[in-house]
Amino acid sequence: MKVKVFHVLSLLIVGAVLIAACGSSTPAASGGGAGAPGKMKGDADAGKTKFSSTCVACHGPEGKGIPGLGKDMTTSTFIKGQSDDQMVEFVSKGRPASDKLNTTGVDMPPKGGNPSFTEKDLYDIVAFIRTITK
Ligand code: HEC
Repeated sequence: MKVKVFHVLSLLIVGAVLIAACGSSTPAASGGGAGAPGKMKGDADAGKTKFSSTCVACHGPEGKGIPGLGKDMTTSTFIKGQSDDQMVEFVSKGRPASDKLNTTGVDMPPKGGNPSFTEKDLYDIVAFIRTITK
């Protein structure tokens, strides 16, 4: 009799452990988060810091542009028309004055002239730009 009770109890414990294990593996499995449209999602707060260290030199602290240097981003229809992936692509290449799409005659340097920026850095910066573009 005593043995039987022990068996039932141990089955219950095993069951509880299994349920707990399944329960905790669920958020980990869905936490992968990939599959959203676009390659990567940037972090706007991190992007602001990176923007303020590099892009600010020509585009100004609020992205409004500095005459003779960088363009106003806040009213840019070009930026509005680009997906995040396309923006990252654009910023990594820049737009030299020799490019026929260049509108100012001033170079937009690749990665804003900061070759140490990774792709993730550029996605962060793009996420920040989205917060200042009207
Ligand atoms: C040395 C100055 C300079 C720096 C630094 C710079 N830019 Fe630019 N950027 C420009 C210029 C000049 C243009 C306009 C090019 C043109 O005439 O089409 C431009 C254009 C752009 C545009 C396109 C805007 C539009 O409406 O066509 C984007 C987006 C942009 N820059 C993003 C960035 C980002 C992001 C950084 C920092 C990683 C950065 N820029 C750093 C000079 C700069």
